[in-house]
Amino acid sequence: MPHQPAASRYAQPDLYNRCGRSGLKLPRVSLGLWHNFGDVDDAANRRTLILRAFDLGITHFDLANNYGPPPGSAETNFGRVLHADLTAHRDELIISSKAGYDMWPGPYGDFGSRKYLLASLDQSLKRMNLGYVDIFYSHRPDPATPLEETMGALAHAVRSGKALYVGLSNYNPEQTARAAKILRELGTPCLIHQPKYHMFDRTVEHGLLDVLAQEGIGCIPFCPLAQGLLTNRYLAGIPADSRAGHDPRFLKPEHITEAKVGQIRALDALAKARGQSLAQMALAWVLRSPTVTTALIGASKVSQIEDNLGALKNLAFSAGELAAIEKILAG
Ligand SMILES: NC(=O)c1ccc[n+]([C@@H]2O[C@H](COP(=O)([O-])OP(=O)(O)OC[C@H]3O[C@@H](n4cnc5c(N)ncnc54)[C@H](OP(=O)(O)O)[C@@H]3O)[C@@H](O)[C@H]2O)c1
Repeated sequence: MPHQPAASRYAQPDLYNRCGRSGLKLPRVSLGLWHNFGDVDDAANRRTLILRAFDLGITHFDLANNYGPPPGSAETNFGRVLHADLTAHRDELIISSKAGYDMWPGPYGDFGSRKYLLASLDQSLKRMNLGYVDIFYSHRPDPATPLEETMGALAHAVRSGKALYVGLSNYNPEQTARAAKILRELGTPCLIHQPKYHMFDRTVEHGLLDVLAQEGIGCIPFCPLAQGLLTNRYLAGIPADSRAGHDPRFLKPEHITEAKVGQIRALDALAKARGQSLAQMALAWVLRSPTVTTALIGASKVSQIEDNLGALKNLAFSAGELAAIEKILAG
């Protein structure tokens, strides 16, 4: 039986935030499909995560050509759920994909050439069985390809009707400013930037957020929970079902040092004093910047999505709380 979406899914209108100076609103919490949606993951859980997110008002799902494993399978699996359960709701969804990392053998399956980006977009649309994506990203800058060529490919994706908006990911402030200028001249303004941003990695605070604010580009920080470190997940060891416990490709057990756990415990105590879970406080913390449109979370369990949306109940920080966080992070 196809899923019947909850009638209450838009009961919280303040969930939506304007993306930069564009006409598009995004939910303050968006769901990414980097982990937990590949062929290696449980099909029933994949479906439940997507449908519960949609029922809670999460309209934005973030993908990339290489998400899996195996690469591409997250898009295929997302497309299956979409067409089985949400086919009448395409116009309620913002679906993104990206190209930029190694995807297929040979010189045309990686980085930022026009050849790679446009072929990859066609492949993503085929895997998801879609006519267009809402946002198409250059996943990373390519030092060997002229920026004009990469941005020209993004603009072409929009002109050809295969994407509605374009975005940049992992570009530094200077690259972002140059790319934004080129895209503006091509008549396809940059909608959004997707950088890594969480309490343990604040690189974006050194220039990128300023460029985005000046240019009117929205910001969707990825890994706002530091892949689960900024949650209660690792407070008492490494659970077998956690990312570090069962899929240490990116979050390795050796990253979870005693010193880090000490900081996490101190942050957890502060979150409790605010009446929040640590995950909720970590999300509220990235959302405190007016330039940040939405926090791009991952989840392995429905309860995590529900918990994370609870962040919106307390987004404000006192000066004392912010100072206490700085002190913990400096320590
Ligand atoms: N553009 C890029 O280069 C790039 C790079 C990386 C990611 N991304 C995007 O960002 C998205 C999010 O990345 P991410 O998955 O690393 O984000 P994250 O939100 O920092 O971490 C998600 C993980 O944290 C744990 N978690 C989430 N909510 C929790 C809660 N309330 N309580 C306890 N644990 C909780 C879960 O870990 P367990 O699995 O252990 O339960 C979950 O898989 C990706 O899906 C992708 O769309 C983009």
